[in-house]
Amino acid sequence: MKRLSGKRILLGISGGIAAYKSAELVRRLREQGAEVRVVMTRSACEFITPLTMQALSSNPVYTELLDHEHETAMGHIDLARWSDVVLVAPATANFIARLAQGSADELLTTLCLATQAAILVAPAMNKQMWLNPATAANIETISNRGIGIVGPAAGEQACGEVGPGRMLEPEQLLLAIQAVFENGMLAGKHVIVTAGPTREPIDPVRYISNRSSGKMGYAVAEAALEAGAEVTLVSGPVALDAPERASCVRVNTAIEMRDAVLENAAGADILIAAAAVADYHCGAIAAQKIKKGDGALTLNLSKTPDVLAEAAKLDPSLFTVGFAAETETLKDNAIKKLEAKGLDMIAANLVGEGQAFDVDENALELYWNGGSLKLEIAPKTRLARQLLHVIASNYYDKQSNKTH
Ligand SMILES: Cc1cc2nc3c(=O)[nH]c(=O)nc-3n(C[C@H](O)[C@H](O)[C@H](O)COP(=O)(O)O)c2cc1C
Repeated sequence: MKRLSGKRILLGISGGIAAYKSAELVRRLREQGAEVRVVMTRSACEFITPLTMQALSSNPVYTELLDHEHETAMGHIDLARWSDVVLVAPATANFIARLAQGSADELLTTLCLATQAAILVAPAMNKQMWLNPATAANIETISNRGIGIVGPAAGEQACGEVGPGRMLEPEQLLLAIQAVFENGMLAGKHVIVTAGPTREPIDPVRYISNRSSGKMGYAVAEAALEAGAEVTLVSGPVALDAPERASCVRVNTAIEMRDAVLENAAGADILIAAAAVADYHCGAIAAQKIKKGDGALTLNLSKTPDVLAEAAKLDPSLFTVGFAAETETLKDNAIKKLEAKGLDMIAANLVGEGQAFDVDENALELYWNGGSLKLEIAPKTRLARQLLHVIASNYYDKQSNKTH
């Protein structure tokens, strides 16, 4: 099983002798399904060539802050936004000092300042450099800012000394990256996620549907798996592969989706309804293909079942999260839906005019009884992880309120 499928890893390489190990790291990351982009400092290019890293990552390597060729397509801000995790390996004493200072005089430090992604730093240096109080103070500074320090290991060093300062091996760095995603906050919980559109048949060949691609719901299912949950993904027709570890139930219509959700809801802990379920369907589906006539055609539509409201009513202990896709007055509509359906949380997003549907980025506004949070525009995969954090925290709040 590929543990980093679809994850975007930005590997920063600074000028240390351990830079040769980064080549193997790129290979291992890609074996696990990650997409890798490499940024190198100027002195890193003295230790290993950008060409090697380009060939291994199958992507251009970035070395300059002001790169006229790349600036329009993938500037430093774009790279910062692109990343799910930034790992700097090896991280020299010099790089760590610049990071501690908040320098932005070259590409790697600049994008570390600009990114909202998790940053990991793998120090690699001579043992005296590592033990120097200046380095220790810099490590403390960046660690207090939430940057993860992985390693160093102790042992024989390239300079002939023995002691702390060796960069961790690629295998250990891989585990450190996996740990960023796999946080275990929903371990032992059963999460149902609905995703995609529904198709409501008109006749044997036609249907009513919507523009939902399922990308958000699938990203939510993946994030729930990473959080350690057992996941049932109830999916409308989409062109996506289900996450390997999820149990996936494929449906077409709103009624099928309702039935699949209610069937799985018994004993489940959280229901996240990201599917764009049709509000109306044809009461009577024509048995044969409807022929084109002279006049207009009127379809008689009736309301579909409200999947989320039914599930919330059936089991009040189920923590229910709805999605509201709106083209206007987002907050008012979302809060109305939250209250009307008796939900625990709602994630609202603006749709239309190229927003939300069938694109890889989105922004969300989250509302719950007594709170709200805006999640800024980000890749849906990262947004889903942030959403899962908020859901887990509200879920556990609800549980502890029940017991008090
Ligand atoms: C042969 C050689 C090996 C080096 N190895 C390391 C090292 O392992 N760790 C380190 O912190 N600095 C090491 N340095 C020093 C860095 O290359 C130097 O501080 C450089 O300015 C780092 O630049 P950067 O942080 O922008 O990549 C080494 C220098 C040389 C000449």
